[in-house]
Amino acid sequence: MRQFFADKQTRAKCHIYAMLESYAKKRHISFHTPGHKIGKWDITELSYSDNLACPSGCIAAAERDIAQILGAKKSFILTDGSTCGVFCMLYAAKATGVQTVYLIEPVHISVYNACAALGLTPLFTVDGADAILCTSPDYYGNIADFKALKATGKLLLVDGAHGGHLHYNKELYAGAYADLWVDGVHKSLPALTQGAVVSAKTETLAEKLREAVGIFRTTSPSYPVMASVEYAVKYPRNERLETLVKGYKNDRVRVNEDYTKLLTLFGKNAFQAQKYLENKGVYAEFCDGNNLCFYLSPATKLRDFKKLKTLLKKTFEKYPYEPIKETQRIPAPLVFEENGTEWVALSASENRVCAANCGLFPPCTPLLQKGERITQEKIALLTNAKNVFGLNDGRILVYEE
Ligand SMILES: Cc1ncc(COP(=O)(O)O)c(C=O)c1O
Repeated sequence: MRQFFADKQTRAKCHIYAMLESYAKKRHISFHTPGHKIGKWDITELSYSDNLACPSGCIAAAERDIAQILGAKKSFILTDGSTCGVFCMLYAAKATGVQTVYLIEPVHISVYNACAALGLTPLFTVDGADAILCTSPDYYGNIADFKALKATGKLLLVDGAHGGHLHYNKELYAGAYADLWVDGVHKSLPALTQGAVVSAKTETLAEKLREAVGIFRTTSPSYPVMASVEYAVKYPRNERLETLVKGYKNDRVRVNEDYTKLLTLFGKNAFQAQKYLENKGVYAEFCDGNNLCFYLSPATKLRDFKKLKTLLKKTFEKYPYEPIKETQRIPAPLVFEENGTEWVALSASENRVCAANCGLFPPCTPLLQKGERITQEKIALLTNAKNVFGLNDGRILVYEE
């Protein structure tokens, strides 16, 4: 466990970690869940361990500190990822009367799923929308134009799955502008996978959010994940790393406003470059068929970043940039929605109309949207990707014609 909570000073400020550590030293014979029976660190709700569903001890103290750091009226720890946060945020918005939401693409698949499950209508224009949902930062480190969005006067929801670390910098941070927002703590801060936070700016929204977390969160939250969320939010900023990354000048490298997303341009050679680097033990977050995207965090070691730079120099020489053909969306006539659907081999799907969202995993944004014509370029991207969503054993769902 210590490996995941390596910074002593941060650890010392953490309520949940302190509880777990103190009881890990005591005699404990487990006749409770979980079934591994180790009885320490990964425990359940016991007389001393508080309860995420109705906290009054160390978890309540952690949530209070988190809300204060994030500038929220109320923050809720999530152990079910930002996906749960997105569902909670949209549920809370609906509970205030929202029916239509302007989705600013790119948005994660969980947003489409939550809209469908909650009966909210997604719109792709601000006209007629009751609320706005944007992703910030996006997968490439772009920050939303919060001031312009705020000026619309509409309820603002921000999916900050990739922006938990930005609370250090209020100019770029969702919580400085949003009414409801998610911090995907595990993606850009040193939390265990699935650690996230959902927050509300006002008392009224906080009450709706409380109702939402009661519905969407698991009733068996992981204590190590909860402890890691508190630890990660309290983890210090890494200004030396930020300066090094921002000072990295190379024609093939781009760093947008968010320094934790380092984009390297390879074009057609991106998948090969990824393989080359992986053979050397270096793993990027994802390859979109054009860029290889490396994700950093305040816990990235300076020496690892320097190694990456050295290795990238060689990789750029070995794999020059070869431009790819832009892949536009080609919407098909809506009439197809009346038709039945069938699974066909991806390789034989050119020109068919896709019947379900699918794409690369990550970033889990639809490369092909339901109702879109399938092109050879998109087939090639889905074929080359190591991980995808929405496909089934090399087959894609299309409308019958
Ligand atoms: C923008 C965005 N939102 C939400 C999610 C869902 O996050 P999680 O995987 O933590 O549930 C992701 C995950 O990749 C994401 O990229």
